[in-house]
Amino acid sequence: MTTTTPTTTSATAHDDLAASMRQIVDAHRSQPGALLPVLHALQDALGYLPPSAVPIVAEALNLSRAEVHGVLTFYHHFRTTPPGRHTVRICRAEACQSMGSAALEQHARRRLGIGFHDTTPDGALSLEPVYCLGNCACSPAVMVDGDLYGRVTAARLDALLSAIAVDTK
Ligand code: FES
Repeated sequence: MTTTTPTTTSATAHDDLAASMRQIVDAHRSQPGALLPVLHALQDALGYLPPSAVPIVAEALNLSRAEVHGVLTFYHHFRTTPPGRHTVRICRAEACQSMGSAALEQHARRRLGIGFHDTTPDGALSLEPVYCLGNCACSPAVMVDGDLYGRVTAARLDALLSAIAVDTK
């Protein structure tokens, strides 16, 4: 009888992840200025950029690890930790700012106990800033798991959080 140890399972999962990442990188590496498209594609597929992505991307694009790391930490859009099960994005661009998105952000921070680029300790939700969701006429705008909402008040944000079963403090 064959048994699989946790170490073997973990090593297999690691190999599978590396193989997936190489496939994604290969699909985008020939684009002009490939680094950003590659990083976007990896994050779109995995939800974040694990540390092991850096050497894979660096090798494929003939860059140093420091160059890859520098770019992925420069842009706030890129995550280096897994996202929560839900993601709430609050627009911080001009039209939404003029219609109260800063107050909405403060409300979200208080209710969730986290700031932008953070995830609640239970892994339920990540809070992210976004700079224009193309919904300026209905500011302030919020996106919850890819669904767009306009004219969001604090009360409506609470209702949206309740709808995805996220406890607020
Ligand atoms: S400024 Fe917020 S949606 Fe455009």
